[in-house]
Formats: sequence, structure tokens, C-alpha cells
Amino acid sequence: MTKVEIALPGQAADADALALPVAQPLGGDGAKIVDEKLGGRLARLGESGELRGERGEAVLLHLNGELDAPRLVAAGVGKREEVDADALRTAASATAQALSRVGGTLVWLLDESLPVPLPEQAAALVEGTILGSYSPGRWKAKNETKAPERIVIGHADDPELRAAVERAAIVAERANRARDLSNMPPNELTPHTLGERAKELAAEHEHLTCEVLGTRELDDLGMGALSAVGRGSRNEPRLIVLRYDPPGARDDMLLGLVGKSITFDAGGISIKPSGGMQDMKGDMSGGAGTLHGIGALAALGTPVRAIAALAAAENLPGGDAFRPGDILRAANGKTIEVINTDAEGRLVLADALWYVRREGATHVLDLATLTGAMELALGDLYAGGFANDAEWGELVVEAGRRSGDLIWPFPLHPRYRRYIDSSFADMKNGSTLRQGSPALAAEFLHEFAGDGPWMHVDMAGPAFLERSRGDYLRVPGGTGWGVRLIAELGRLVA
Ligand code: BES
Ligand code: MN
Ligand code: ZN
Repeated sequence: MTKVEIALPGQAADADALALPVAQPLGGDGAKIVDEKLGGRLARLGESGELRGERGEAVLLHLNGELDAPRLVAAGVGKREEVDADALRTAASATAQALSRVGGTLVWLLDESLPVPLPEQAAALVEGTILGSYSPGRWKAKNETKAPERIVIGHADDPELRAAVERAAIVAERANRARDLSNMPPNELTPHTLGERAKELAAEHEHLTCEVLGTRELDDLGMGALSAVGRGSRNEPRLIVLRYDPPGARDDMLLGLVGKSITFDAGGISIKPSGGMQDMKGDMSGGAGTLHGIGALAALGTPVRAIAALAAAENLPGGDAFRPGDILRAANGKTIEVINTDAEGRLVLADALWYVRREGATHVLDLATLTGAMELALGDLYAGGFANDAEWGELVVEAGRRSGDLIWPFPLHPRYRRYIDSSFADMKNGSTLRQGSPALAAEFLHEFAGDGPWMHVDMAGPAFLERSRGDYLRVPGGTGWGVRLIAELGRLVA
């Protein structure tokens, strides 16, 4: 884990690189002081057009003793008056990438003239550095990318600044752990091994416990929907439950977090086309975000009680697989006609939503890579949110805005219910019409969300990238989506 410290520039021993945000127009306060020591090198790079200060630009200079480090990265943050946390995260991520052969100690210089308060500035730089130094190449025999071992914020020590950067480091590390889970190949990550990971996480934290329910327990609870999805694979389904019960938490709230955790989605009997199917290892990203989200609450000591339920299964077309035409009975007693076995996420979530309510969850949030249409609609940036309670929905959206896990509100409306009316059962799991797939899926989940505030977040787009997003997420694969959201939501409700 990356160490984070605060020390005055020049007092941070053994710096391998200094970095500073550079805003447009060039020559502003922070950069000016540095450039005086560099004899105008930055200004000359500006004149030649090599340094522009654009968002996401990182120019690496090798120094000869002009400053207290052998390297300097000039990190573009765009127009001075438009600089925000996103610009700083992006600049820091680009800097981490520019230094991926260096590792060691990175010292960030802050710029008091930017329109972002120093604690937020430092937090965004730490977060961006850690997210940007993530490498998805863990399975290479020789992975040569290096992350900084130490990030130093170049400033006089200050309690508010310290709290902000420590928090940012914890949350970003947890997001990277969630990315590891999403990127883990499905031959390594099964519902069983995901449960083992959850137990390991719980063992790290005093007030976090984990319980893994297997096929027997799922049968006893009547979870016919989750069980059915898992039947086509030898890797049996699990309901992975974590409980966070910190001292001093308000007793009128139990946050219920539910994550879709399909460790591989081949579609089942309604098998998917082969192109791109490898990315369906990322179909447990809702679970990854939920797991490390509740882990982040525990690591931060956020005083809010929470329960997380990861509905884990592998959706394969095995000889015992569930089929189109099957009628399933979910734990809440409702029956579901299967139209398409590839609409498996809503089935596993149905039983998990019921479970967290039964355990007393007052406010529920589910995260799921649920529909391809959500990715078509919003691309890799926003997730879509469907809430049955305006206040709760707005709070989750606000947590997204503050954290960078962006959510755009979508309609939850009872008239979408007719798309899933079945002639034989209480409902069917899909429609034959090519219409409103994310909204009717939300209405399906609504049948299982119980009473009280609930929001469904369809994160099919931003959960797993096919290519760099060009901001602070610069590598393909899992993004850790949901970890920063849950950490921020905890801060808002605690
Ligand atoms: N996991 C997929 C959704 C998905 C697709 C996520 C692409 C990320 C990228 C989900 O289980 C699925 O297959 N959904 C189907 C539902 C349909 C069969 C009703 C879809 O959206 O096509
Ligand atoms: Mn599917
Ligand atoms: Zn799926």
C-alpha cells in the first residue's frame, strides 16, 4: 500500500519526482515559483508548444539539481477558473502513468491560486495518483509498471489536510482492490473464491463480519431465483453477506448494499455471441464495488451500520442449467417465468434484495452491471439510477457527484410493469420487445425491494472499460465503480 505523508517541499527526503499542477494560461502562481528555480524552462516549453497545461497532459523533465528531486512532472489541469477535483485527479493519474517506470517517492506541490481548497486539492491528487498507478497486468510473468511507494504532499502539516489525504488514500486503495476483483479471470474468481476474499476482508476489520451462504442455506431460505442461475455451472452459487456494526452508529439506519456478482456471464442457455464475451468476467463488478465499499466504510470508521449482500453465481449453459420456460419461485414467494437466461442479474438480485430487507435494512442501494442498453445509452461515464424515493435517490446521486462515481437519474414507473407481465407466473424476467430494457429491469427489481427507500444503479457502462476513459481511469478493465460512491454516501448519512 502506498504511504501518504505531509512534509514541506525540500524536507521530503529521497524524492524521486516532484509534480505540480499547471493551469492555463501558463505562468500562474504555483508554476511561476518553480520556473524561477528552473531558469524559465517551463516558460520555454510553453513557447514551443510542448507544455500547454491541458487537462491530462503530463510533461516529464529530468533535472540537474535545480530542485530537490531528479525529476519534475508538469501536470496539466486545464483552464485555471475551471479546475475542479476531476481535473486534479486526471492530472495526477497522467503523472502516475508518466512515472510508471520510476516508482519511489512522489512529492506533490500544491497551488494556492487554484479555485479548489487545499485539502480537496491534495485529496484529489492523492486519489488520482493511486488510481492512475493501477496496473491491470498482474497476470503477466513480468509486469514492469511501478506505483509510487510514497506520496508526499508538499505543505506544512495541518490536521484538515492530513485527514483529507488519508481518507483519499484509503478510498482509492479500496477502489483498486475492487478493480483487481473485476479483472481477476473467471477461472480464478468463482462464487466460492469471492466468498473467501470477503472473509479475508472481514478479518482485516474489527467491526466487519462475513458469512457465506451455500446451496443448502439458499434452498432453506427458498432462494429459487439465485439458485437457478447458478445451476449451469459446477462452481456453485453463494450469497456472501458482510455486516458492519461500528460503535456509536445511529440506530435508525441500516444501510443495505446489494451487488450483482456474476463471476462470468456466458448468458446460459440463451448464450451470448462470442465476440467480447471475455469482458463478462466483469459482471461481478457491482459485488466488487459493494464489497470494497463496505470495506472502505470499515477502514474509515464511518459511524453507520451497513449490511452487504453479494449475489454470486456463474451463468453457464451446463447440462443442469435453468432454461427459458422454467418458472422459478423467489424467496419472497413471487414466481418468475424465465424468458431469457441471459437476464440473470435481476434474478440473483431479487433474492439478495429480499434478504437485506429481512435483515432490517432501512435504506437500500443495489449496484449491478444489469443491461447492455444502459451502456448503449450512457457509455463509460455515467451509471443510471432508479429510485422509489426522491430524497434517497438525490442523496445517492449527490454522493456520486462528489466522489466521481457519476449517476444520472432514470425513471422508475409502475407502467413499465406491463412489459414483464407473464401469462403463467407473477412476472417474467424479460420482454420480447426491444424497448426500455433498463427501466423494465428496474421495475422487475422493484417487486423484490420491499418497503422503504431503495435505489437501483445500473453501472453496465462505467464498471468495466474497453479502453482508457482519458481521465483518471486510463487502463482497460475494472474501474472499482461504487467504492468511492459508498464511502461518500457513508459520509453523507453518518
Ligand atoms: N451482464 C449483462 C449486461 C451487460 C452487457 C453488462 C454488456 C455490461 C456490458 C446482463 O446479464 C445481460 O445479459 N443483460 C441482457 C438482458 C436481456 C437478455 C433482457 C442485455 O442487456 O442484453
Ligand atoms: Mn446476462
Ligand atoms: Zn449479466
